[in-house]
Amino acid sequence: MAISPTVHCTGLFTNPNDSGDHLHRPGSPTIFHTFAHRLTKGTAFQVLNNYLAPSPTLSPEVMRRMKITAVVGSPRGARSRTRKLVQFVLAGAEEAGAEIDLIDIADLQITPCTACESCSLDGTCIFPDGYSIAYDRMQDADGLVLASPVYVDNVSGQMKVFIDRLADAMRYQDFAGKYGCSIVTTRVSGGDAVVDYLNRVLNYLGVTTIGGMSVAPDSDPEALDRVEPAARDLGRRLALAINEQPRYPDQDARMAENRKHFAHIVRANRDWRTDGYERWLREGWIKEE
Ligand SMILES: Cc1cc2nc3c(=O)[nH]c(=O)nc-3n(C[C@H](O)[C@H](O)[C@H](O)COP(=O)(O)O)c2cc1C
Repeated sequence: MAISPTVHCTGLFTNPNDSGDHLHRPGSPTIFHTFAHRLTKGTAFQVLNNYLAPSPTLSPEVMRRMKITAVVGSPRGARSRTRKLVQFVLAGAEEAGAEIDLIDIADLQITPCTACESCSLDGTCIFPDGYSIAYDRMQDADGLVLASPVYVDNVSGQMKVFIDRLADAMRYQDFAGKYGCSIVTTRVSGGDAVVDYLNRVLNYLGVTTIGGMSVAPDSDPEALDRVEPAARDLGRRLALAINEQPRYPDQDARMAENRKHFAHIVRANRDWRTDGYERWLREGWIKEE
């Protein structure tokens, strides 16, 4: 399996006369270039792609059982463009054999973190709310999709509240070993930066990212339909990564560096969070002192 360094395969084609040919670089995935060329005329659209394997067409016997859970941060429910884009990604994953799951985080009424530090001490949050529903469904998945609209150059408030509540899952690396990607829609600006941010959040959680996609449909109602094939392909690629478990040295190094910072908490809590401590020992992330 060919493993690449991160490749930013860009298709920011707002000019209908722009073929995008100048964007092709040696080693970049032809399939994305072709998609970008064919699909995105007039739509600001970017695929950030880590995974250069061909689009998967594995038979169900070859693919192992897998589940992909998407967390959508738009409060607009069925009207959400981000949600629609995520549904394309999940449809592609389902075609590749994955069981799929979508969580509308705004429906779960998650309370903002108050920095009481209860979770950092004993792993439990003082708020018995919808967070645990999302956490359990994410924990049950092999692949995670984080998705948000851009709100003033960042994720939506609903998504940010949820991310803050994941702080203890980050410290203890509860989702390590999973694969993920990020999806963003925006009116005009901030899409790529928010994809980068969400992928960084996934890395904090110990999740290896295979890429992401931001779409700026502006006022064009058909823009999302035009990127549907690329979104489905991203979903198929996520399923393929779960099946083949590629490693990316740059992300592995980043996640190892993150674990160095979290290790002192895991050590300090070892007498009352023994399960977490022993898991870190088993994983080789810390050594017995
Ligand atoms: C509070 C708020 C802030 C927004 N901030 C930005 C922004 O900074 N830049 C931008 O281009 N679009 C911004 N938008 C537009 C949304 O990102 C865009 O409409 C997005 O596609 C909505 O996704 P949704 O349909 O999934 O909710 C903002 C929208 C709202 C409601």
